Amino acid sequence: MTIPAHGISGTLKVAPIIRDDRKVDTFIEVNERQLADLIMITSGGYSPLETFMDERDYISVIKEGRLSDSTLWPIPITFDVTFAPEVGEILGLTNAGRHLANLTVTQVFEPQTPIELLSTFGTDDPAHPGVAATLSRGSYLVTGPIALLAEPNIDVYGHYLTPVESRAIFKMSKWKSVVAFQTRNPIHRAHEYLHKVALELIDGLLIHPLVGATKDDDVPADVRMEAYRVLIDNYYPKDRVLLATYPAAMRYAGPKEALLHAISRQNYGCTHFIVGRDHAGVGNYYDTYAAQEAFDELSQDDLKIQIIKFEHSFFCKKCEGVVSKRSCPHHSDHHLVLSGTKVRQMLRDGTALPSQFTRAEVAKVLEEQYR
Ligand code: ADX
Repeated sequence: MTIPAHGISGTLKVAPIIRDDRKVDTFIEVNERQLADLIMITSGGYSPLETFMDERDYISVIKEGRLSDSTLWPIPITFDVTFAPEVGEILGLTNAGRHLANLTVTQVFEPQTPIELLSTFGTDDPAHPGVAATLSRGSYLVTGPIALLAEPNIDVYGHYLTPVESRAIFKMSKWKSVVAFQTRNPIHRAHEYLHKVALELIDGLLIHPLVGATKDDDVPADVRMEAYRVLIDNYYPKDRVLLATYPAAMRYAGPKEALLHAISRQNYGCTHFIVGRDHAGVGNYYDTYAAQEAFDELSQDDLKIQIIKFEHSFFCKKCEGVVSKRSCPHHSDHHLVLSGTKVRQMLRDGTALPSQFTRAEVAKVLEEQYR
């Protein structure tokens, strides 16, 4: 089903829920990542994709960073299985025992994993969490039309909005411009600074935390959601901020994932997207601003959503506020910079997070979790 445009965002490919009485040949219990991709595809979040990629698009994406019709698309979205089904077979996709969708197989092919890894992650190091997830998949990729039979159980945190719904809310709120913020972390003062600088110029802010699969040592989504709620309650203008969950899985693909995040936020109806330091990065795999630079190579027709780039921001004790090198003249001795690893260590050790780093209300939620 194609849904008409609102604002800049173009049409959406959305799968309606239908009845399909055909006999299923094989049932497959989807994993967390496959479920996330299924939700993103059928909801329109990955528009113009209407199903998992066929071989032509897969090859084109890993070699050119584009679908075979030359639409910008940075990362393969594929469905892996451990056996090679016959063309024409109906695969029943289940999750937690619920029959969610049928995929009628039109093509079975083998992935080109070495090329895919380097194209997507820039590395084939199995210590990289996205590489590890790719290496652990089944040996075959399949595609074919998806019949969506039931709504996946997505709204576990009570804040889920489909792209159609978020577009409708933006329209109702009369926001002409909406900036999206992707996050997989609790919101610290530096993140809040990015939001508030953006809100000086843009009508609405969509805080869009990723709640699909993340790596084991990331803060769990339910804890983050509680932290987002207390932060918004205490420090954000209610009529200009929307908190909604983003059901995709995290790939930790740095620049390539930043592009995917921007494309999908365009589908959710946003006009702007924040890309700060080491967006969607992990460890030291990507340069601090590689994700920002990925957008510099695009042509005007590739993306309608506009990127708001931020330098690394931090609290400066001399400035008594969050700043970046663009705005602060002081020596780094005065700057408070804590890595995610360091923060998790402090939480595990029971060391209080400084208020210059995290709002007290957020620190309380995190400390309770780690206690
Ligand atoms: S991410 O994997 O979702 O990118 P995170 O939740 O930490 O991780 O970051 C969300 C967004 O905030 C990203 O665009 C990231 O680049 C940006 N960001 C995070 N911390 C900072 C910071 N200290 N300064 C500037 N940008 C930041």
